[in-house]
Amino acid sequence: MTHNPHLDVWDIEPKDFPADEAPSVRLKFLLRYAILAPSTHNTQPWLFSVNGNRVELYADRSRGLRITDANDRQLTISCGCALLNLQVAMLHFGCEPLVDILPDPDDPDLLATIHFGRKIFPPDDNEVLFDSITKRRTNRQLFRDDPLPAGLDKELQDAVKSERAWLHFVQSHDERNAISDLIAKGDQAQWASKRFRLELAAWTHPNSSQSGDGIPNYAMNTGDLLSVAGPMVIRTFDLGDGQAAKDRDIAMYSPGLVVLGTETDTPRAWMAAGQALARLLLRARSQHVFASYLNQPIEVEKFRNELSDTIGRRDFPQIILRLGFGPHVNPTPRRTVDEVMS
Ligand SMILES: Cc1cc2nc3c(=O)[nH]c(=O)nc-3n(C[C@H](O)[C@H](O)[C@H](O)COP(=O)(O)O)c2cc1C
Repeated sequence: MTHNPHLDVWDIEPKDFPADEAPSVRLKFLLRYAILAPSTHNTQPWLFSVNGNRVELYADRSRGLRITDANDRQLTISCGCALLNLQVAMLHFGCEPLVDILPDPDDPDLLATIHFGRKIFPPDDNEVLFDSITKRRTNRQLFRDDPLPAGLDKELQDAVKSERAWLHFVQSHDERNAISDLIAKGDQAQWASKRFRLELAAWTHPNSSQSGDGIPNYAMNTGDLLSVAGPMVIRTFDLGDGQAAKDRDIAMYSPGLVVLGTETDTPRAWMAAGQALARLLLRARSQHVFASYLNQPIEVEKFRNELSDTIGRRDFPQIILRLGFGPHVNPTPRRTVDEVMS
């Protein structure tokens, strides 16, 4: 594979933290951790502005997915993930993060402001999260049968709850079967839409691409044909049945299947869902557990209520993940901090 400078962003040396420099220089260093967050289709829909000891996090709606995510729900969740990475990095370097979510009612694009607070000792459990930031990946490969580590379910539930969200572990065979069916139906509905396929193709890149965003084929687990002809094949053919069968299988047979949700469905709740998601992923990774997403029944609105009914909740599922132990996977590109400053 040709060298891609947008992959160098994953190599950060914590010892390079410019502890004696001005707050704005320190904040720019800390943003190197924020940009490693996951985002829908790797759109990285965030912009940052640093002023003195304050950073502003803006939604970059020009990067929204008009078909898959018309209300910018997942866009906002992605920005919540970047915020959580930043909070964890600040704590690691002994800076208390003072966060204000959606501070300006007249500016819905300003999702959060973060200030340096007091100098503090990081909480004990922050270090494992910090160490996982550069190791976390979405892993779409098959997972081994090995069960999840004992106690991980409770740990992940607590992690998500601490961010004002909830986590449902799918337990019974019947429930898993019903959710796997919804995932398969969601795939079929999405792939039948040419506009969905065009949008996905636009954010899927051949392995040789030097792009700083989007999903390289090596991360897709779509097989050899697609890794050469990926975007063209996605644009042209309705692969819904094949994708549905594959996703149904991985939903049925991965060691863990979870639904993360919130009590309301507002931009504030989506930010909380993003912070909860990032916290969950980092905590899971600290125990070598990978995740990948099966959000189709949430993205296709008509299946979202059915999903809530299936898991016995009246509120709002936001993300479906499978969890387990998988093979090594390579990181995906990110735009550099300089490229995401407004
Ligand atoms: C809110 C959100 C929704 C996502 N939805 C999907 C999804 O439906 N299918 C999928 O394969 N990946 C999904 N992803 C994973 C992204 O594609 C992935 O984070 C991105 O490509 C960057 O790769 P990385 O996570 O390995 O760093 C989602 C991520 C986020 C944050």
